Amino acid sequence: MKKKVLAAIMAVAMVALTACGAAAPAAGGDAAPAAGGASSSGGGKKVAVAMPTQSSERWMHDGANMKAQLEELGYTVDLQYAEDDVQAQVSQIENMIAAGANCLVIAAIDSDALVNVEQQAKDAGIPVIAYDRLLMNTDAVSYYATFDNKGVGTKIGEYIVQHCGATKDDPKTIELFMGSPDDNNAHMLYAGLMEQIQPLLDDGSLVCKSGQIDFESNNTLRWDQQTAMKRCEDILTRYYADDKLDICACAYDGLSYGCMSALEGAGYTDADWPMITGQDAELMATKHIISGKQTMSIYKDTRLLASKCVTMVQAVLEGAKPEINDTEQYNNGKIVVPSYLCEPVPVDKDNYKEVIIGGGYYTEEQLAE
Ligand code: BGC
Repeated sequence: MKKKVLAAIMAVAMVALTACGAAAPAAGGDAAPAAGGASSSGGGKKVAVAMPTQSSERWMHDGANMKAQLEELGYTVDLQYAEDDVQAQVSQIENMIAAGANCLVIAAIDSDALVNVEQQAKDAGIPVIAYDRLLMNTDAVSYYATFDNKGVGTKIGEYIVQHCGATKDDPKTIELFMGSPDDNNAHMLYAGLMEQIQPLLDDGSLVCKSGQIDFESNNTLRWDQQTAMKRCEDILTRYYADDKLDICACAYDGLSYGCMSALEGAGYTDADWPMITGQDAELMATKHIISGKQTMSIYKDTRLLASKCVTMVQAVLEGAKPEINDTEQYNNGKIVVPSYLCEPVPVDKDNYKEVIIGGGYYTEEQLAE
């Protein structure tokens, strides 16, 4: 299984390099440093990349893509994962600074915990770039590469509204399984989702029997699958003993898997299986979409995100100009961070072939295994 995941990730990284006009990495995964020319601008400078966890497939893709693309440009890369341990990430970043990193790229676990270490980086003259998750309450961050995070929620919400068939005469039940409260993305996703479904909740077309509609009651610390599973089990027992849950609005594929286990445990079958949403279009989730177990996910092309982030690294280290398309939305409490937002794309059984296979993210073979 591990081998297959790794193979999938390397396939993605290779396509990414090809897309950037660079040579594919050598077997084993290490991109050969480019020799000479514009593509070797890195000149051996050290870029440290702090990622949250290897337990979620998307972050493995992100790390592999960043490493391959930076090495292709001649940078030395120190890539580290903190396995969702907040203090471990703080220590890793301290060590990166001590080891003489020239630039820090951070996908935070709990960004509030990183404020001091970001200040240390700033004091040492090391530029910091926020990767996917905004770094809050700091002026030490230069740029932010991400997806349109509110747009992710909007697209999940639109999908539910368009496909669930809820009307005032035929209401549907819905429960929300949102992301981690220490991740700004989770709040933005929730805002986008609620904008879409609130009118249906207001007119009674959608009914949340648990009443857990506010983010305080439906968030999932660290986006944890087990936590979502337990909360879903509890909701099914307490509120759906004599009724059926029609929609699990999940903010991430891992939460969807947790809900699926709870639903199976509660005796749901193909006949009464709910609509289940997700985010990241993980390999497993895409297989579930094909089999009908998961209804949709949000595809985020991590190759594109990495390439945008790499232009930001080049900007802070080489004085190049990165592409920015948002200078308003991402106020971190201290500054508005110049950002590039990539576009999230909803995928379901009708368009996964075109978007995911056609986009070279997974092959037909990987999805058939
Ligand atoms: C990312 C999502 C991911 C989630 C859980 C968020 O910050 O934007 O793509 O599903 O974290 O890892």
